[in-house]
Parts: sequence; C-alpha cells; structure tokens
Amino acid sequence: MESNLFLQMTFNFKDKLINGDSLEELKKIPDETFDLIFADPPYNLQLKNELTRPDRSKVSAVDDKWDQFDSFKKYDDFTFNWLSECKRILKKDGAIWVIGSYHIFSGLVR
Ligand SMILES: C[S@@+](CC[C@H](N)C(=O)[O-])C[C@H]1O[C@@H](n2cnc3c(N)ncnc32)[C@H](O)[C@@H]1O
Repeated sequence: MESNLFLQMTFNFKDKLINGDSLEELKKIPDETFDLIFADPPYNLQLKNELTRPDRSKVSAVDDKWDQFDSFKKYDDFTFNWLSECKRILKKDGAIWVIGSYHIFSGLVR
C-alpha cells in the first residue's frame, strides 16, 4: 500500500512541466523522486565593472529583474534553499547538473 502510494506520487511528476516559484513547488515533491536534476538558476550577476574569464573573453552582465537580489546573503540563502530541496528530492545515487560558475556556490560553506 505504502509503495503503491509512492509509485503514484512519483508517476504524477513524470513528463510534467510545473510553472511556479521553485522554492514553493520543490517542497511538494516527495523525497528521492528523481535520478537527475538539471538547473539553470539566477546568477546574481549585476556587473558594475568589466569581468573577464580566464581566457580573457568578456562576461556579459545580466540585468533582468529575476537576477537581482538585495544582498549576497539573500542570494546565498536563495541558493541554499533550492539546492537543499534538490538534495532531498534527488535519489541517493542521483546526479545534479547546475549551469553557472563557482560564484553561485561560493557563499554556501556553512
Ligand atoms: C539563468 S535563467 C535560465 C533560463 C533558461 N535556461 C532558459 O533558457 O529560459 C534563470 C531563470 O530562473 C527563473 N527564476 C528566477 N527565480 C525563480 C524562482 N524562484 N522559481 C522559478 N524560476 C525562477 C527566471 O525567470 C529565469 O528564467
């Protein structure tokens, strides 16, 4: 009975697109549901000066509203919260791929 309920809940998320606030929607997903998570989160990349990569190519700034956070702490809290939910809903032998650079995770050592 219990595993049947688990199967039903898992199946409900198959081939579904959910449009919403990830911090709210992720909470509705049961533990250890997915084999793979692919995320392309906000970068908090409001550049005031020029930024170049190690190969000297220029990084383009992002000025969209969804990429603006009041402080580094707010961005780190946002990142910590969605990543924590991802860890919970990922199977123990699952994998997560995240688009971004080291700065996304630099404030997460707690
Ligand atoms: C780096 S972009 C990813 C764009 C995506 N790869 C595409 O091709 O459309 C980050 C995206 O996260 C969305 N976003 C920001 N905060 C969010 C949140 N709390 N929940 C869900 N999506 C969010 C933004 O609207 C934006 O489209």
